[in-house]
Amino acid sequence: MKGNDIREAYLSFFETKKEHLRLKSFPLIPKDDPSLLLIGAGMAPLKPYFTGKVEPPCHRVTTSQKCIRTGDIENVGRTARHHTFFEMLGNFSFGDYFKKEAIAWAWEFLTEVIKLESSRLYVTIYPDDRESHDYWHDMIGLPESHIYPLSDNFWEIGEGPCGPDSEIFYDQGEEFGTDPENQMGGDGDRFLEIWNLVFSQFDRQKDGSYRPLDKKNIDTGAGLERLSAVLQKKKNNFETDLFFPIIQEAAGLAGVPYGRSAESDVALKVISDHTRAITNMIADGILPSNEGRGYVLRRVLRRAVRYGKLIGIDDAFLGRMIDVVVKMMKLAYPELMEKQAFIKKVAGVEEKRF
Ligand code: SER
Repeated sequence: MKGNDIREAYLSFFETKKEHLRLKSFPLIPKDDPSLLLIGAGMAPLKPYFTGKVEPPCHRVTTSQKCIRTGDIENVGRTARHHTFFEMLGNFSFGDYFKKEAIAWAWEFLTEVIKLESSRLYVTIYPDDRESHDYWHDMIGLPESHIYPLSDNFWEIGEGPCGPDSEIFYDQGEEFGTDPENQMGGDGDRFLEIWNLVFSQFDRQKDGSYRPLDKKNIDTGAGLERLSAVLQKKKNNFETDLFFPIIQEAAGLAGVPYGRSAESDVALKVISDHTRAITNMIADGILPSNEGRGYVLRRVLRRAVRYGKLIGIDDAFLGRMIDVVVKMMKLAYPELMEKQAFIKKVAGVEEKRF
């Protein structure tokens, strides 16, 4: 399955089979949320629905949300799965269904819709969360050896809704390593986290305390890039169809084919990641500057240019990369097409300045 097909399969499963309202991705700039610089999770723009501050258009929603996370920017291109920009597939319940349905539907999607082998699926749970354990064990039939308690299974982002979570991992096999780093929760690649189910039942306050929410919610997030790698049987996300055409374009400009050396591959991967981020940040109204979101954009853009230089691209090249990104992503995000000329202009000016 192509990345575009996986995204559509997910959204239409929850829309047509599980009565969710499909919403468009929210922009990367958070609205009325001073605790966040950029949207970094599918649930972030939905916080007012979770807390009950705003009545949602439907109590079940599904999205493919554009996200930016730059905390691990130095790892991008060096691991199989770190990105600054990624798409998070999510199904959300605002005081409607809870653990039982979230677990049952995640399993149904993975094993019946995209047909992952169930013997390769493992889950983690919050140690106190017997209820989730029992759903995975008794309802789904997962053996104990596939259910791991992990004490850091508690998910939160800034202030607002948060709670214990249960992560679903795909075992990519022993060829990805057998050392302790390759256990669940480690940094290795063997067990790849593909989906996080958050049982959102607290509201984190400004002072750091946790207030129980009146209504319990579900917040899930599945990485489209990781699901694509699994389904396309690629060892890293950059070799999926969500990145590879960008890598090929950059490789063509540099005259350095993918696979020539570890260092040039890192550069090509960084360029493919960063140009997806740049394109989407500018499309959503962020402009390069020396502070806040604008600084994040400036830093990511300049890193992309620097890695281009490292592999011998001497002329301005971001415009060419942006054309490829827009071509690949316009099906899901048609606004990119309308803003293509503007995105290229903003990126081009910053590239020349640098
Ligand atoms: N909010 C959770 C995450 O980002 C699940 O969507 O992992």
